Amino acid sequence: MSPFNPRRALPPTLRRWGRTAYEVARGSVLDAADWAAGRRPPPLTPPRRLWRLVTNKSNDFHDSGARLREFLVANGLRPDHHLLDVGCGIGRLAVALTGYLSPPGAYDGFDIMPVAIRWCRRITERHPNFRFRLVDLKSDRYRPSATGRASAFVFPYPDATFDFVVLTSVFTHMLPADMGNYLSQIARVLKPGGRCLISYYVMTPERRVAAGAGRGAFSFAHRGDGYWAELAELPEAALAYDEPDVLAALEARKLKIVEYFPGEWAHTPQQSQDVFVVQKA
Ligand SMILES: C[S@@+](CC[C@H](N)C(=O)[O-])C[C@H]1O[C@@H](n2cnc3c(N)ncnc32)[C@H](O)[C@@H]1O
Repeated sequence: MSPFNPRRALPPTLRRWGRTAYEVARGSVLDAADWAAGRRPPPLTPPRRLWRLVTNKSNDFHDSGARLREFLVANGLRPDHHLLDVGCGIGRLAVALTGYLSPPGAYDGFDIMPVAIRWCRRITERHPNFRFRLVDLKSDRYRPSATGRASAFVFPYPDATFDFVVLTSVFTHMLPADMGNYLSQIARVLKPGGRCLISYYVMTPERRVAAGAGRGAFSFAHRGDGYWAELAELPEAALAYDEPDVLAALEARKLKIVEYFPGEWAHTPQQSQDVFVVQKA
C-alpha cells in the first residue's frame, strides 16, 4: 500500500488552487528577501509573486522574453511592425520588445487578469507605443468571476491592423469554441501577409502513448468535447488538441502554416509547447 499523501487526498482542482497560492506566497517571500538584501531587479521586472501567477517557471522573465523576441525576429518581425499580444500576461514579451519596436512600430496587448494588466500599465508610462487592455472574459482558470464569453468576443481593433499576432501559452488554456472564435478574430485583425505565432499542445497517437506512460509534463488523460484535459474538472488549467483539429481550425481561417516547431512536452517533464507560425493569405 502506498503511504498516505495528504496532498493526493485533495480533489485536483483544490490541489491546483493550492499550488497557485503556494507559488504566489513563495514569490512574495522571495520578493521580500530581495528587498531586505538590497537586491534591485532591472527596470520593468514584475514582482515574482505576479510572475508565479501566470507561470510556474522561476527567475527567467527577462531571459525567456528575450528568447521569444529573437524567435519572432527570426520569423519575420521588424522594428516598424504593429504587434498584438493576445493573453499578454504580465508583459513578458512586451518588456523584451521595448528596445526593439520603435514608432511607427507599436505593441498592443490584452488579457483577462486585472492584476496583470494593472502591472503592465507601468510599461506604457515609459513606452507610450506599448498599450494594454483589460477585457472582461470568464476563464475558470484565470478569471472565474467574469461573465463575458471568449467564444463571442470581438477583438477591439479594426480589420487588418496588425503585422504580427502572438499567443504564447494561451490556447493551451482555452476551450474549442473560444479558440475557434479567437482564430477568426486573428484572421480579421491581421494585415494581408501578416503572421501569427501560436503555441499549442498538439496531441497525436504517438504522443498519447508517451504522455499516457507518464513520460511527459502532462498526461492529458481526460477526453473532453474536442480536447484532452489534464484536470477533468478544470480543463482550462491545461489542455491539448488533436492534430487534425488544429490543422482544420487554421485552414478554415485561411491561416497557412509557414513553420512548425514541435515541442517536447509529451516526452520530457518540460512544458515545452508546439509552436506554429502561420500567415494570412
Ligand atoms: C500561461 S499565461 C501566458 C502569459 C503570456 N502569454 C506569456 O507567455 O508570458 C496565460 C495567459 O492567458 C490569459 N488568458 C486566458 N484566457 C484568455 C482569454 N480568453 N483572452 C485573453 N487572455 C486569456 C491568462 O489571463 C494568462 O495571462
